Amino acid sequence: MNDYTFEDYKKIVEEHLSDFLPDIDHKSITLYDSMKYSLMAGGKRIRPVLLLAACDFCGGKIEEALPYACAIEYIHTYTLIHDDLPCMDNDDLRRGIPTNHKVYGDAVATLAGDGLQSAAYEAMQRDVLLYLDDLKALKKRIRASYEITKGCGCRGVVAGQIADMEAEHKTCSPEMLDFIHLNKTAAMIVAAIRAGASLGDPDSKMLEDLNIYAENLGLAFQICDDILDVVGDEKKLGKKTGMDSENQKATYPALYGLEASRQRLSELTDCAVEALSCYYDNAELFTSLARELEHRGE
Ligand code: IPE
Ligand code: IPE
Ligand code: MG
Ligand code: MG
Ligand code: MG
Repeated sequence: MNDYTFEDYKKIVEEHLSDFLPDIDHKSITLYDSMKYSLMAGGKRIRPVLLLAACDFCGGKIEEALPYACAIEYIHTYTLIHDDLPCMDNDDLRRGIPTNHKVYGDAVATLAGDGLQSAAYEAMQRDVLLYLDDLKALKKRIRASYEITKGCGCRGVVAGQIADMEAEHKTCSPEMLDFIHLNKTAAMIVAAIRAGASLGDPDSKMLEDLNIYAENLGLAFQICDDILDVVGDEKKLGKKTGMDSENQKATYPALYGLEASRQRLSELTDCAVEALSCYYDNAELFTSLARELEHRGE
């Protein structure tokens, strides 16, 4: 296993992020520009880093995981573009710059999201096609692309997003709130970890421990996002705060208050760290990331 830090993995991701975008005909230059506008605007790159780190942790080669790491960032970026549209959260600022639709208009922004999503599948399937004669390698890649496809779909992000929309302006039950957060956000964190692990050779216990880590981290991540929408700094976050209460969203602070939300965030972070405690220093990147994310934006 490499001794890479989060920043090391992030640098690798940034260096290769455009490599797996399809060559787009010049006639579609607006599409390409709008896709790259949001993709290259920065971002924490948490999902692709987790994917590479999980691959490494499970004995895989990170160079071989790059198409999947980039694919998950393409998909994540698409979800942000669509999430910001006027028909969804109606946000003007993302990753420190105007949202995609503010620059390109709603129609192009919708298509930029579609383009990024399909670019992700193309990147993954192009890689799968390289391994048709190597069954073991092929199975790992099919599994990785399955995890990502499942996580972003109607049993993952899309399910979470529709539940999030339908819960606006209403009283939301605790069960429904967790359903929203586990799907709209944790599903892609789980997908990143499981896809990365699939590209290595995890035993079933290792996969289960990583899964528990990812689920707890994913829910904690969205609770922290909810808290930062109330108390965070717009400059540091690169997006507007106060939007959740303006849109009357179902969030942890709205349902439980800030103190109880912070308490839950801390408990979930502890659970994430605990899930990997048996791996000691080998899991250092995962455990320190969970601790850092708990305190981000402070
Ligand atoms: C934002 O995700 C959407 C949520 C799931 C809360 P990130 O906070 O990871 O956004 P970027 O990628 O760093 O911009
Ligand atoms: C969005 O959650 C999650 C996805 C984009 C799938 P939010 O709507 O809370 O994310 P932000 O706050 O706009 O980044
Ligand atoms: Mg939203
Ligand atoms: Mg939003
Ligand atoms: Mg939010």
